[in-house]
Amino acid sequence: MGLRETYAAEIDALLARYAQPRSAVLALLYLAQDEYGHLTDAAVREVAELIGVPPTDVFEVAGFYSLLYRQPVGRWVLQVCDDVPCCFCGAEELISALQDTLGIRVDQTTADGMFTLQRVKCLADCNRAPLLQANLEYYGNLEPAKIGELLDTLRARAASGEALSVSGRFAGQ
Ligand code: FES
Repeated sequence: MGLRETYAAEIDALLARYAQPRSAVLALLYLAQDEYGHLTDAAVREVAELIGVPPTDVFEVAGFYSLLYRQPVGRWVLQVCDDVPCCFCGAEELISALQDTLGIRVDQTTADGMFTLQRVKCLADCNRAPLLQANLEYYGNLEPAKIGELLDTLRARAASGEALSVSGRFAGQ
């Protein structure tokens, strides 16, 4: 079944928010990303059909934003800001420590599918540098010594059955 059949009510509600169906593109890409784990070519085309635009338009959007994933990702996407203020406060040391602890490099996913590690630019919370974003949650002033505790907490939350969303679709609910 496709998105339209599985999420008819949610899609109708999203489309009703906007004067033009195409304005719902990001919300629908979030929905597709949660459903399929990442934005496959078929998922992008499905969204284009839902809003009645050429697939190329939606491929352009999907390729632009760092919270939209065209490749498979883990249940938690760990994005470390490596912009200048965060680097002054230890972002590179944080990334190195995460790589060592997780046993992966940037842009890789752990073998158990739990964590993907990425670099991103400024997350607009520089006063808490260095900053890590786990899905849509911010963790500031994150020293390498605190990584183990954070990863344990995130693993426990995934194991608890909590509805996790790499797109933040459930944010604020
Ligand atoms: S530079 Fe890292 S949050 Fe702004």
